[in-house]
Amino acid sequence: MNRFDRVKVLLTGAGSGIGRATALRLVSEGAEVYAVDLSGAGLAETAAAAGGGPGRILTRTADAADEAAVVEAVRAAADGLGGIDVLVNVAGIHRTTPIEQLTVADMEQLFRVNTVGTALFCREALPHLPHGSGVIVNVASSAAAHGNPYMTAYAASKGAVLGFSLSLAAEVAHQGIRVVPVSPGSVATPLAGPHVLPAGLDTSYYGRIRAPFGTAEPEQIAGVIAFAASRDAGYLTGAEIRADGGSHI
Ligand SMILES: NC(=O)c1ccc[n+]([C@@H]2O[C@H](COP(=O)([O-])OP(=O)(O)OC[C@H]3O[C@@H](n4cnc5c(N)ncnc54)[C@H](O)[C@@H]3O)[C@@H](O)[C@H]2O)c1
Repeated sequence: MNRFDRVKVLLTGAGSGIGRATALRLVSEGAEVYAVDLSGAGLAETAAAAGGGPGRILTRTADAADEAAVVEAVRAAADGLGGIDVLVNVAGIHRTTPIEQLTVADMEQLFRVNTVGTALFCREALPHLPHGSGVIVNVASSAAAHGNPYMTAYAASKGAVLGFSLSLAAEVAHQGIRVVPVSPGSVATPLAGPHVLPAGLDTSYYGRIRAPFGTAEPEQIAGVIAFAASRDAGYLTGAEIRADGGSHI
């Protein structure tokens, strides 16, 4: 099934985890992916893994938190691919901090990368997206809707991604452009896992919310993102897809 045959996709966060798995999934379905990440080494690994096609991958290092870099990256993607049909925002960072230790710098960095970065890529890519078929998929987090101790600022930055995406969906619906926030639960990537929890604090909550379907592999979230970006989801916009393995049922 080549749902993305010659579809031009701009994808952020493609140097690791969910973003890499998404790049591989889309290229395997025929997409032409312009992959952006802060990490050149990560992008090189992704490109090597995607080498078999049938789609193709171009890469560029850029900081999603840097407005000028985002403007340039989107322009380069449109030039390199000859347009942009789909934008997928996966780039993100995570911090766990007890509230007493939360700093303005922590909050600003989380919002700058996760929220402002996502918003900038949307703003810049939108003029390129075709009316009637353009799609934006923004990766939020189940933390946007469900409390997680020590993740206040991260959860707030992802709640902002969710709210931003729902409002943007309403704003561009008349152009036939879909916007779908995807909220993963716990996914086995370098960003997540017990190692990111603060040492010496009560983390029993995380034992209690273990998802019946366990921790996701990045490929399982990539499959959801690919669905949301595909024509199979042509009637889906302004609605969150929460892929959390049933952690809150
Ligand atoms: N892993 C999880 O459990 C989980 C759960 C819910 C949501 N998410 C979200 O999924 C997304 C992907 O996370 P992941 O788990 O694959 O993590 P990851 O760390 O494996 O990948 C994140 C990628 O984003 C890139 N990145 C970070 N800051 C950047 C910046 N300023 N500019 C450009 N690229 C930048 C990193 O270099 C990395 O390649 C994130 O937005 C994360 O918040 C992850």
